[in-house]
Formats: sequence, structure tokens, C-alpha cells
Amino acid sequence: MGLQEYQQGLDRSKDSLNHSAEHLNGNLKGKDILSVRQFDTTTLDCIYSWSQEMAEIAEKGYRADVLSRKILANLFYEPSTRTSSSFTAAMERLGGSVIPINEVVYSSVAKGEDLEDTVRTLEQYADVIVLRHPEMGSAKVAAEAASVPLINAGDGVGEHPTQALLDYVTVRKEQGRVDGLTVTMLGDMKNGRTVHSLARLLSSYDVKLNFVSPEILRMPAEIIDELSAKGVSQSEHEDLAEVLSETDVLYVTRVQKERFDDPAVYESVKGLYVVTPETLQAGKETLTIMHPLPRVGEIAKSVDSYTRNAAYFRQMENGLYVRMTLLAGVLGKLPT
Ligand code: NCD
Repeated sequence: MGLQEYQQGLDRSKDSLNHSAEHLNGNLKGKDILSVRQFDTTTLDCIYSWSQEMAEIAEKGYRADVLSRKILANLFYEPSTRTSSSFTAAMERLGGSVIPINEVVYSSVAKGEDLEDTVRTLEQYADVIVLRHPEMGSAKVAAEAASVPLINAGDGVGEHPTQALLDYVTVRKEQGRVDGLTVTMLGDMKNGRTVHSLARLLSSYDVKLNFVSPEILRMPAEIIDELSAKGVSQSEHEDLAEVLSETDVLYVTRVQKERFDDPAVYESVKGLYVVTPETLQAGKETLTIMHPLPRVGEIAKSVDSYTRNAAYFRQMENGLYVRMTLLAGVLGKLPT
């Protein structure tokens, strides 16, 4: 094959990649992961079972060779502990390696390089890019510039699809099902990308969703409308007590300090909800308590040992297995 023909082949595959971000239909190979809207329930079932298999690989404690010779560029424009380190661990457990770029202060982004150029540079060295960025929509912009799969690890107040997938796996493991559950989300519904993604993901199931927040941190109307159009039963509250007794899963979130222009407004809402062992006495005995972490006081530490149903550290563990699944999937190493 001549060089020109080869180049045309490359251009074609890039074109098809740019249009491949929408529906996964159980096949992640070569795809960008930008939003939970790409996942139907069949694909979610696959993610659930593949992540169980990944747990077995990780528990054996050795490096598998599924992704040997593959490289991940882990590009983080915002702070992260769990997402960044679990993608690194996921890649390494599967035998791959990682270029870590944290908070971009030591990279050329600090010299003013734009996102597209950064991504087009990294794809020369890496087979997959994970991106966290403060602007909503940035993952899509980056994915359009990239010819390798790009995974959204949080785009501002937009989405955090990989978190929602690990949240879904956790709900299913802890409660044994998703259909029929009442899930109550508590805290910052306005700025929390984890609740935006999780509410959207759960809208594919027969669930009841309650959103509990102060008035100024309500779930965006756009998401409420999207869920209504899918026929989801949902309600908004300011007082957790109104819905706690009917709740199966309580998903607690941090008020997103970094999204407030006025620190005084943040101060006025930051400590409004604190879940303690006393709070939980009004809840079901089987209530699962989740949090994407980090927590800054919304769940008292005494809850950790008060109930076996405090699932937030198991939730983080599931994050490793789900991210192993996603990396193996987009790199074409899962059965289709
Ligand atoms: C979340 C995030 O970054 O949106 N963290 C995470 O990835 N586990 C939640 C948060 O920061 O509050």
C-alpha cells in the first residue's frame, strides 16, 4: 500500500470515530466515552458483568497482559485523587502504562496551549486519552480533535460518565437490582456532575428519583425535563426527612465550592446537610449510603462503622473494575 492510500485509510477511520460517540450498543471498541446517554441497558448489563471479571483479575494482584504495550495519557486540568489514580491502577493492572499529566501546571498548557493541540500531541504517544477539564462540553471538543478514543473524566458541571457507571454497578451489587428502587440524591444538584450523569443513567430503569437540595442548588431544569420526557417519576425537596423513609439508596454529594463565584453564597449553603447515625434511624435498615467522594462533612465519619450499608469505599473499589472494563473496551480487548 502506498503512503497516500495509507493516509486516506487513516483519515477515514478518524471520520468514523468522530461520529461514533453516540450509541455503544455493547461494543466500546474505538469509541469515545463522553456521556451516559451513549449507554443502553444492554450495554450497562455488559459493563456490569465485565466489571465482575475485571475484579477477579485485580484480586489476583498481578498484571494481566490484556493491554500490554498500550499507553494511556491521563490528562487532568482539575484536581483528582480517585478518578486519576483508579485509571492509572486500571491501566497497570491490565499490563499497560500511563503518561500522567496532573493539573497541567507542569505541561505546555501552562504556556497557553489550547486543548485541541494538547490532545493532538498526546495522541502521537498514547492509545487512549482520559480527560478532566473545568468546562462543560470540553470532552466533546477534545474527542473531535483526537483520533484515539477519549474518555470524559468530568467536564465542569456537565457529566462524569465513568463515575455514573461505577455508581450503577455499586447500586446493583448492594441492592441486587436497579428496577423498583427509590434513589434519593442529596446536596448540590446544580453543580454536581456526578448527579447529572447518574440521574440520566438511572432514567433507563424503573426508578423513583428524589432530589434534595437548597433552593439555589436545584437540579437544572434541562435535566428534569429530560427525565420527564423519559417518564421518570421524580420529585424535589429541601428537607431530607420528607423522603428518607421511602429511600433505598441515599446518594450524598459535596457542595461544589469551586463552582461558586461568591464565597459568601457557598458559606450560606455548605453545611446544610450532614448525615449522621441519628439521621439514618429514620431510614430503612437496608438503606445503601453512597458518596462519590471527596466528602467535606456531609457524612459524619461515625457513619462508616455504624452500618455495613455505608458503601462509599466499596463504590471506589468498583471504580477500578469499571475503569479496567472501559479501557479494555475502547481498546478493542473485550468480546463484542
Ligand atoms: C467527583 C467529581 O470530581 O465530580 N469526584 C470524583 O470523581 N469522585 C465529586 C466531587 O468532586 O464532589
